[in-house]
Amino acid sequence: RPPGAVPEGLRRPPGPRGFPVLGNVLELRRDTHLALTRLGRRYGDVMEVRIGTRPVLVLSGLDTIRQALVRQGDDFMGRPDLYSFHYISNGQSLAFSPDSGEVWKARRKLAQSALKSFSIAPSPTSSCSCLLEEHVSKEAEYLVTKFLQLMEEEKRFDLNQYLVVSVANVICAMCFGKRYEHEDQELLSLVNLGNEFGEVAGSGHPADFIPVLRYLPSRTMELFKDINRRFNAFVQKIVQEHYSSFDKEHIRDITDSLIGHCQEKSAGEDTHVQLSNEKIIHIVNDLFGAGFDTVATALSWSLMYAALYPDVQKKIHEELDRTIGRERRPRLSDRGTLPYTEAFILEMFRHSSFLPFTIPHSTTKATVLNGFYIPKDTCVFINQWQVNHDETLWKEPSAFRPERFLSAAGTELSRPESEKVLAFGLGKRRCIGETIGRWEIFLFLTTLLQQLHFSLRPGEHVDITPQYGLTMKYKKCEAFQIRPRFPGGSSL
Ligand code: HEM
Repeated sequence: RPPGAVPEGLRRPPGPRGFPVLGNVLELRRDTHLALTRLGRRYGDVMEVRIGTRPVLVLSGLDTIRQALVRQGDDFMGRPDLYSFHYISNGQSLAFSPDSGEVWKARRKLAQSALKSFSIAPSPTSSCSCLLEEHVSKEAEYLVTKFLQLMEEEKRFDLNQYLVVSVANVICAMCFGKRYEHEDQELLSLVNLGNEFGEVAGSGHPADFIPVLRYLPSRTMELFKDINRRFNAFVQKIVQEHYSSFDKEHIRDITDSLIGHCQEKSAGEDTHVQLSNEKIIHIVNDLFGAGFDTVATALSWSLMYAALYPDVQKKIHEELDRTIGRERRPRLSDRGTLPYTEAFILEMFRHSSFLPFTIPHSTTKATVLNGFYIPKDTCVFINQWQVNHDETLWKEPSAFRPERFLSAAGTELSRPESEKVLAFGLGKRRCIGETIGRWEIFLFLTTLLQQLHFSLRPGEHVDITPQYGLTMKYKKCEAFQIRPRFPGGSSL
């Protein structure tokens, strides 16, 4: 059988025909998640589109995605070798580079353990339960003061700019042991990304699939390269500072722990795979990069939904008053006691589906899915947006209704319902920051909502249409109005 030929009895997945040379690129250019959801309805959960001349497998449907990423996890755990991914972390990214072998596995393990030690592991030195709680509480408290001050002094402002710096400060504290001022221009220019990064890194960017586009001038691509260059230089500088003040008896943060790992390794640690220092140190680029945009975008959607649905916000306020009261601040250990608030967070993930696709996957070997033949090295898009809006899974998927996750009495979260929401991927490539991300969102949100009330300036049009990209955001909005819930300040 010639390479690429379909074995007897099997078929290639169905899909739209598309144009010669361009394939389906014109149909997919805008709102790719909606276009692929529409096409999936016609062609099924295992569908093949073409971007340029390259075939791309698009998976929809929770069962099909579980089958591919979990039960056939080994076959689907690769990453495609895409042009734009070469610019992320100098091509050394844990999340975006094509490696999925032993080196990737060892790096992923190292990243998970470094992340855990400096976030959710019990802290011997802090009065909080863990460092994550300490950092988030501090930043959220700062945000409360800052928002009230801005309301007084500026009246109109973009709250997302402040959210993203606070969230970046949490991951900066864990990765680099450092905090930045909200006016710090160096950090601001890096974290206030808008859509420059996500527009290119999102699934289906044409230059990744149609080589000739790389030679045409593109402002989007230039901005993407520039942000990656500045990002890498920023991290590199901090890593150098850490090297010069490194003390193995006093590991301050994730960067130190990775440097320590490089030194142990050169001291002859007997490991299964030898990782280069570069591969070890670059892990911090991924953690920092993945750690702020995702969580900040989640909080930004949360506050928008709270403002858009005053009745929902009122229920969260009532739950917080009833369970936590005003005499103390929320803590991570309050998770599990605030079912409505947790249902609200799940509904935010589902309804916004702000990560419409996972990072693209690729097949590590020729395989068969739902009876369709899929060759090795096929690029695979996982449509999380489709699952979260699937009418066979959700009643009125376009309605924002946290109650859908609660038991009839409203006192308990329904586990089976929560597990249908796709936001962090599944299987071998599943997000390694899931616990941290969920805990951070919970603590930021409860701390903000315990003290503040959010609304939108009456009569002002607010456009919340998500802008397509790796993480989808709504357009810049200065219509938020924020007031303290307890005039005269809290008793703390
Ligand atoms: C991968 C979502 C927060 C680190 C991913 C993926 C998704 C995702 C969808 C791709 C999964 C796949 O390709 O199948 C989210 C969401 C977050 C969040 C929704 C917060 C609301 C974080 C945080 C960190 C992090 C806080 C680290 C501090 C990573 C890394 C990967 C990843 C390193 C790559 C894993 C790999 O390729 O092996 N995340 N993430 N994420 N995430 Fe997250």
